[in-house]
Amino acid sequence: MLLFMKRPPVSKQITLLPVASQQEVKMTEDSFDPHALRRALGNFATGITIVTAQAADGSKIGLTVNSFNSVSLQPPLILWSLDKRSASSLEVLRGSGHFAVNVLAADQIALSNHFARPQEDKFAGIAFSEGPGRAPLLEGCAARFHCALEQEIDAGDHWILLGRVLAFDDFGRAPLLYHQGAYSLALPHPQLQSQSKADSGGVFAQKLSNNLLYLLLQAVSAYQNAYLPKQTALGLSVSEARVLILLSALTQGSVDKLQRESNLPGSEIAEALENLTQAGLVEQSAEHYRLTADGVERAEQYWHVSQQEQEQVLAEFSAEEVETFKRMLRGVMQHA
Ligand SMILES: Cc1cc2nc3c(=O)[nH]c(=O)nc-3n(C[C@H](O)[C@H](O)[C@H](O)COP(=O)(O)O)c2cc1C
Repeated sequence: MLLFMKRPPVSKQITLLPVASQQEVKMTEDSFDPHALRRALGNFATGITIVTAQAADGSKIGLTVNSFNSVSLQPPLILWSLDKRSASSLEVLRGSGHFAVNVLAADQIALSNHFARPQEDKFAGIAFSEGPGRAPLLEGCAARFHCALEQEIDAGDHWILLGRVLAFDDFGRAPLLYHQGAYSLALPHPQLQSQSKADSGGVFAQKLSNNLLYLLLQAVSAYQNAYLPKQTALGLSVSEARVLILLSALTQGSVDKLQRESNLPGSEIAEALENLTQAGLVEQSAEHYRLTADGVERAEQYWHVSQQEQEQVLAEFSAEEVETFKRMLRGVMQHA
């Protein structure tokens, strides 16, 4: 992650350069700029699911979906939306009348990227069992909802698909989240920290204050709380910043190369490159992308803000203590 990448501090004065897409976007003629709208919608953090179905002839569909949401408890209804360009998926769903929503766990990024790419046989090499309507059920998920297709609603360039939950599995694993085009993890909110500080005499808070996981999570929360507003002020979404930083390290890269290095979905990298190009930070030659002079400067700003934060946070500790701290963190990371 950006926080832990080593880079010499940049000593020059930093001026914030807001990108056009940060400003209010007005409607043109009959619609918004779809890239700007998609980018703004990415501020709504979601989980990630893989929706699967199997037709009577055995043809299967599976696609990565973050439009999933709960609708009703009684009767139990959920929804998700399907891009109308996935016409063959709709046929399978209609033919089957059933589908499964596999809610991904935090360690399933590879599965999410796999099912977000069109390919001949998405299920080759993927372990699954079958649920109602023979819908493929994936392993290692946080939860699974086995559904009957209840209703299709025509909604612009998508179909909204309403499902009736027939059965479900609740495995309770930590979820994989998605925010501003990048994968994310659920961490307790820093507000919890201030509440427990105020209540520091309590037995619960005292017990927790010696728990390593609690300390690690609260340290990350506190760090993020101070650091993220400074990073966000540089004007790029998480996926755009990730692509910019990667390009500064690689000098140039193709979408494939950027995907291998960043773990972002390919579609997000393409979208981020489009937005960075529009903002004048990236230029393309043939299959390769590289930073413009403004792009290089913006990437340096990211390194600078990151380095400065690190120095501030660790200012009260000696160089020896900082080294020990890093060694301990690496040790904890290897323990997994
Ligand atoms: C994080 C993420 C969320 C997505 N959410 C949706 C969605 O809600 N609906 C949809 O139709 N496609 C969604 N997609 C795109 C599909 O996963 C992708 O287009 C997939 O290749 C479609 O399957 P197909 O090529 O087999 O039709 C999403 C992709 C990603 C990476």
